Amino acid sequence: MKQNIKITKVQQSRLSEVDFENIPFGRVFSDHMFVAEYKDGEWHNPRIEPFERFPIHPAAMALHYGQAIFEGMKASKSKDGEPFLFRPEMHAKRINASADRMCMPHFPEDLFLEALHALVGLDQGWIPPQEGSALYIRPYMFANDEFIGVKPSQNYKFIIFTGPVGPYYPKPVSLIAEQKYVRAVRGGTGEAKAAGNYGGSLLPAKIANEKGYDQVMWMDGHEFKYIQEVGTMNIFFVLGDTVVTPETDGAILKGITRDCAIKLLKDNGHKVEVRPLAIDEIVEAYKKGELKECFGTGTAAVVAHVSKIAYKDLEMELPPVEERKVGAWVKMEIDGLRAGTIEDENGWIVPVQAVEEINA
Ligand SMILES: Cc1ncc(COP(=O)(O)O)c(C=O)c1O
Repeated sequence: MKQNIKITKVQQSRLSEVDFENIPFGRVFSDHMFVAEYKDGEWHNPRIEPFERFPIHPAAMALHYGQAIFEGMKASKSKDGEPFLFRPEMHAKRINASADRMCMPHFPEDLFLEALHALVGLDQGWIPPQEGSALYIRPYMFANDEFIGVKPSQNYKFIIFTGPVGPYYPKPVSLIAEQKYVRAVRGGTGEAKAAGNYGGSLLPAKIANEKGYDQVMWMDGHEFKYIQEVGTMNIFFVLGDTVVTPETDGAILKGITRDCAIKLLKDNGHKVEVRPLAIDEIVEAYKKGELKECFGTGTAAVVAHVSKIAYKDLEMELPPVEERKVGAWVKMEIDGLRAGTIEDENGWIVPVQAVEEINA
């Protein structure tokens, strides 16, 4: 369905100010953004306009009661320089799953997709050409009622902005299995990409950094026994010849990169188990020399190798990255798909339609 997104272009692009060789993650924003407002039970005035600050009421409900959700996606360019999106329909669905959990309205999937095509098409010059770099896309929705009181907002704002990014974790990451704080419990909001989940993760992450580790490995909130995920990544282990990843149980984000990794590994003949995974099993495998690999998957990081994992008094040092066949293969496949150098057999790559085609 064509939605008639109104487009107002910048008078002067800021693109020439950007040094694509040195892009700090999350600090550079492209020329345009998509905006729509929800009022009286409907989305109104979908438009693309110059990226800029907007006023917000001091009582805007998202600032007080946390009805705020988001997505993180990337666009890249094919070998021929054509821009494409990666599994955009999965993100359209996931933001609405998050909306359900946070008692927020759905954003129409067709409008979500159309907005992405129009915005990325317009700002495709901002897609960095360097390997491992991409245009990061941030769709989000927040409660905008000017009201004090805990109830679902009646008004919302939906925005998509983008910005060029370089590689996220250039080095393998070290993890500490969290023993005090929890990110999410079953029945909570962990499966939603809700802003508050990230706010709550900051203190444990800070403490982990102070202890010398890059990221927290979250454990279940009932027994601190089962592994959940890491920072902004899902987690995979290679135990002997089997790849194991925790099953999403309502407390873990259903990562889209995770979904890709599972499918690619299975299709390539790997033994993959998606099931509850206790930390004791990892310790046992480590002691027997069967903990071969550990890696995280996520849109920002793509695939990040894990160098070591601390659990209580034990520090489990993983084999050198050069020996990581499975994680390295998944990384190569997903990087290759995202760079347009590996053929996409799954229909994950979606070429961006030009603005003119959309407005035709
Ligand atoms: C908490 C959390 N887990 C996992 C992921 C990985 O998800 P995806 O592969 O969809 O980026 C993310 C990033 O979006 C995240 O924020």
